[in-house]
Amino acid sequence: MEKIQNSVIRCIILAAGLSKRMKSYQTKIRMPFFGKPMIEHILEAVSRAGIEQPVLVVSPGDFAALEALYQDRAKVVVQQAPLGTGDAVKAGLTAITDLQTDCLILCGDTPLLTSQTLHDFIQTCLSSRASAGVLTTNIDHPGHYGRIIRGPDQQFHSIVEYKDATDAQRDIHEINSGVYFFHTGLLREALQNLSTDNQAKEYYFTDTLSYLRQKGHLVHTYRINGEEEILGINTKIDFARALQMANRRYLEQLMSEQGVVILDPANTYIESTVHIGKDTIIKPFTYLEGQISIGERCQIGPFVCMRGNKPIQIQDSAMVGPFSSLRGGTELEEDVHIGTFVELKMTKIKSKSKAMHLSYLGDALIGNRVNIGAGTITCNYDGKKKHLTRIEDDVFIGSDTIMVAPLTIHDHAYVAAGSTLTEDVPAYALALGRARQINKPEWSLQKSPLREKDTSQK
Ligand code: UD1
Ligand code: CA
Repeated sequence: MEKIQNSVIRCIILAAGLSKRMKSYQTKIRMPFFGKPMIEHILEAVSRAGIEQPVLVVSPGDFAALEALYQDRAKVVVQQAPLGTGDAVKAGLTAITDLQTDCLILCGDTPLLTSQTLHDFIQTCLSSRASAGVLTTNIDHPGHYGRIIRGPDQQFHSIVEYKDATDAQRDIHEINSGVYFFHTGLLREALQNLSTDNQAKEYYFTDTLSYLRQKGHLVHTYRINGEEEILGINTKIDFARALQMANRRYLEQLMSEQGVVILDPANTYIESTVHIGKDTIIKPFTYLEGQISIGERCQIGPFVCMRGNKPIQIQDSAMVGPFSSLRGGTELEEDVHIGTFVELKMTKIKSKSKAMHLSYLGDALIGNRVNIGAGTITCNYDGKKKHLTRIEDDVFIGSDTIMVAPLTIHDHAYVAAGSTLTEDVPAYALALGRARQINKPEWSLQKSPLREKDTSQK
């Protein structure tokens, strides 16, 4: 993306709405969306487009939290009451003093917008020498977006909100994306002339564009294709649609740029914080969330969940699944196999080790070539503290072993099936931690004297 030439561009991001249509306890721009708060997506797109220190307009209730998070990346200002998008821009403009600049205006609820589109939009606004510009798109089902009204010459005339539109206007398929570009001085002038004379009784920012047009200024329109990039999240239904689009976009990037094999993209969720190497196969119903790195030629899935607030690292040729759950702090070296109904947490497993069935391994360090039998459990938590289990190289853990941490099983040791271990096991030893089996001969015959011994050949 080439750099935008000869221009100082400021930016205002609107994020002070009440999000009533979301029916949530928190405002939508703070909701986690595809791995980070919704607002962070637009902040990143702005920064990648080369625009520094945008002004972020927020509600009084969000101010403290958002300032703490973003004060080094944005100037956070408050809109005292949600009187409409026009009033919000006015609040944002108090933080911009140089009226000789240009100003990009964005909504905080469009997380799919890319820096490339912002860049192209700004370029066409600058080269058209217009006083203001708006990004538009044509969509089949324009729903509640504002409609772009054009004059007989096809030039921009005004934007009509859905609530205020006539039936004929609602039939228009070209909509306002909520992305605008203004000469800052003219923006200030236009804002002084807004009214609340509309169905919502709000200051509509969109009216600034028709004001400038009426004053004889050129208002540029830049039309892109499709709704995907500009999808505004107003409801939980929009949220789900946008999330699906963000996910699909990232899966396509993994396939086309990283050479990852994804067998069923429609049933796979991978956040953009997950890095995956070449020829790794992702099988259906895989859910990967958070800081995860997966090497090359691994096989993941089907039905695998990896998530947690600490990083997860998986090296080349590891196999995970089906039905495995990997939580934060899991590290698997090359050729490790993790199988059905195995849960790992804060556990490092060195190369060529296997835990194939029904196990919980938490707070454990496991060496090379270790075999963990079915039903093995680390008892890592005593109700107050977490304790470590160490299993050294070439250890064989028999099925149904309970390891009460802290303890160490030294290299080449064997643990008999069904053991409960409370002490360390020396290298090369066999540990038996189970009650000895007693067989009482012909016990069932004595218990019920009427039963006769079956002597027929079996
Ligand atoms: C707005 C546009 C509409 C456009 C759509 C694109 C207006 C009047 N309408 O409608 O033409 O098609 O965006 O997505 O601008 N906000 C504030 N303070 C307020 C009100 C809103 O900061 O007082 C913020 C919201 O947090 C949001 C953004 O402004 O991030 C847009 O507000 P929203 O209520 O979602 O506007 P739409 O109805 O979607
Ligand atoms: Ca919106």
